[in-house]
Amino acid sequence: MGPTALGSPFVDNIVLTGFMGTGKTSVGRELGTRLRMEFVDTDEIIESRHGPIDRIFAEHGEQAFRRFERDVASELGQRKGLVIATGGRMLLDPVNLDDLTRNGRVFCLVATPEEAHRRITTDEIGSERPLLGGDDPQRRIAELMAERSDGYSRFPQIDTDHRDVATVADEIVRLWLAAETA
Ligand code: S3P
Repeated sequence: MGPTALGSPFVDNIVLTGFMGTGKTSVGRELGTRLRMEFVDTDEIIESRHGPIDRIFAEHGEQAFRRFERDVASELGQRKGLVIATGGRMLLDPVNLDDLTRNGRVFCLVATPEEAHRRITTDEIGSERPLLGGDDPQRRIAELMAERSDGYSRFPQIDTDHRDVATVADEIVRLWLAAETA
């Protein structure tokens, strides 16, 4: 595949996973612009259909949210040419993983618990992450990261600590082009 195929509906999707606060949405948006591929964010799709995530959790429970994630994974798995930022647990569900790897290549963004916490508390949707709603979000982040580390470790790891969005995007473009042209 040559560079002329960028932005084509025939290239594999780029799928970003990783813990909350690792920069999936910002990096995904940057990749979409650079590669002229459509960018989608699974949380945004769910919110556009069902309302704010914190309200879904509060009114219908986490299981309902996870079912909405499965619907989105199944739909996006049938498309190509997308950059997809996924919710932090989406690809830890084997059904979603199957759906999104059919036409997609996954990269996992990584940050320390301290850095993830800093980003979550300064980004615009910090208050909408119901899993971090207790009195000690930083401890909760460390616990959840530890629980999920095996699941995330199966994907190529992209360090995001002390690196800006452009630098992280550069690394992913390099890896993705190398894989797509191999
Ligand atoms: C979640 C991550 C969130 C969102 C929901 C649950 C998780 O997405 O899907 O609050 O379980 O890790 P981001 O990773 O985009 O914050």
